[in-house]
Amino acid sequence: MGSNAMFSKVLTLLFIATSVTAAAQQPPAGTPPVRTAEQQYKNIKVLTGTPANQLNITMHAISGELGVDCVHCHVWEEWDKDVKAAKEIARRMISMVRQMNQTYFGGAPVITCYSCHRSSARPVNVAVLPDTIGLRPLTTPPPPLPVEEKPKPVPNHPSVDAILQKYVQALGGEQAIRRVTSRVITARRDLPAGPAGLAPVLADVEIYQKAPNLSVMISRTAEFTVSEGFDGDVAWSQNAAGVVTTLPNPDQQRAKRAANFYGALDLAVEYASLEVTGIERVNGREAYVLAGRPPGDSIERLYFDVKTGLLLRRWSTLPTSLGRFPYQVDYDDYRKTGSGVRIPFTIRTVPGTPRAETITNSTYQVLRVRENVEIDSARFVRPETRPRPASN
Ligand code: HEC
Ligand code: HEC
Repeated sequence: MGSNAMFSKVLTLLFIATSVTAAAQQPPAGTPPVRTAEQQYKNIKVLTGTPANQLNITMHAISGELGVDCVHCHVWEEWDKDVKAAKEIARRMISMVRQMNQTYFGGAPVITCYSCHRSSARPVNVAVLPDTIGLRPLTTPPPPLPVEEKPKPVPNHPSVDAILQKYVQALGGEQAIRRVTSRVITARRDLPAGPAGLAPVLADVEIYQKAPNLSVMISRTAEFTVSEGFDGDVAWSQNAAGVVTTLPNPDQQRAKRAANFYGALDLAVEYASLEVTGIERVNGREAYVLAGRPPGDSIERLYFDVKTGLLLRRWSTLPTSLGRFPYQVDYDDYRKTGSGVRIPFTIRTVPGTPRAETITNSTYQVLRVRENVEIDSARFVRPETRPRPASN
C-alpha cells in the first residue's frame, strides 16, 4: 500500500472514530435528539434502534472480540455493501446474541461475541487440555491428588479512606498538590492508526492544565493534528479533518472528571461509593482494587500499589449495543516534578483510545513538565471547525 493510501486510511479511521460519535447518547442540554443507526446508515438490517453514535464503537468491539480487521466483513470504505459472507454470518450472530440475552437474561447484555469467540474468528469447540502434567518417566508415581482448597479467609484490607490518604501522601501530600495551579506537559505518544489501528504513528503531545478544571491536549503527527479539551463547561474534540464536536456521554462526564486539576484529592467525592474488592496483580505488583460508580456512569476500578500507595491502573467500560467495551489506563514511572509533586511519566492505554480495537495500545512518555507557569486563557477556548480545503 502506498503511503498516500495508508494516510487516507489513517484519516478515515480517525474521522469515523470521532464524526460518528458527534451526537450524544444522552446529549448535554441543547443538542438535537440522537438518530438511529438505520436513519444515518444505508444498510442496517439487524442493529435497528441502535443510536447512530454507537454504531462505530460497536464495529470496533466486534472486530476486537473476533480478533479480525474491518475487511474481514467489509470492503474498505464500502461499508454498506453486502459482499462478504462473514458480514451476513455476523448479522445472524448479532440476532442470535440479542435473542439469547432477551430470552435468558432479561435483555441485559450478558452474552457478547467474546463469550464464544475469545478474539478468534472461529470459536474453539473442543476443550483445550491443561498443559500441566508434562513429560515424566512412566515409573515415577503420579503426583498426589490436589488437596481440596478451603475457602481463603478474607484478608483484612485497609479502609477506602486509608488507601486514598496513602495515595495523596505518595503524590507529595495535599499541601504540595494545592500549591501547583497550572501544568504544561510535553510528551510523546503513539496514536493507533491504519487498518485495525495496528499501524501506530508517533505524535508530539502538548498538554495544558489549569486549576480548577481547564485542560487541552494537542497531538501532532507528521501528517495531521488532533486535539481535545475541557473549557470549564463542555468537553470537545477536534479530529484530523478539523471537525470539532461536543463529546457524547459518558465521555463528556469522564473528560470533565479528568479535567479536575485536583482530581487525586477528590476521588471519594467523584466515586459516590468506593469499596475495596480485593488484591490483584498489576504489571507484577500487588494492588488494592477499589470499585466505585461515578454518578450517572458505569462501574470503574482503581488499582493502588499495596507498597507505594500510588495509583497503578484505572479500568472503565463503554456501553455498546452488544455489551460493554473495556478501557484500561496504566500509570508507571512516577517522578517528582519541580514542585515536589509526583506524576506518572509513563501512561499506557489499552485499547489505544477509548474507541479503538481492543488489540491496540498506546503509550505516553512525558518528556518535560513545567508548573505554575502563566497560560493564556485563550488556550482553553473550544476551537471552531476548520473549513475543508478547496481541493480533495
Ligand atoms: C464480524 C463482521 C464485521 C466486522 C469485523 C466489522 N463489521 Fe461493520 N458491519 C457488520 C454488519 C453485519 C453490519 C450491518 C449491520 C446491520 O445490518 O444491522 C455492519 C455495518 C457497518 C456500517 C454501516 C454501513 C451502512 O451504511 O449500512 C459501518 C459504517 C461499518 N459496519 C463499519 C465498520 C468498521 C469501520 C469496522 C472495523 C472497525 C467494521 N465495520 C467491522 C459486520 C462487521
Ligand atoms: C454462542 C456462541 C457464539 C456467539 C455468542 C457468537 N458466535 Fe460467531 N460463531 C460461533 C461459532 C460456533 C462459529 C463457527 C461456525 C462454524 O464453524 O461453522 C461462529 C462463526 C462466526 C463467524 C464466521 C467466522 C468466519 O470465519 O468468518 C462470524 C463472522 C461470527 N461468528 C460473528 C459473530 C459476531 C459478530 C458475534 C457477536 C454479535 C458472534 N459471532 C457471537 C459462535 C458464536
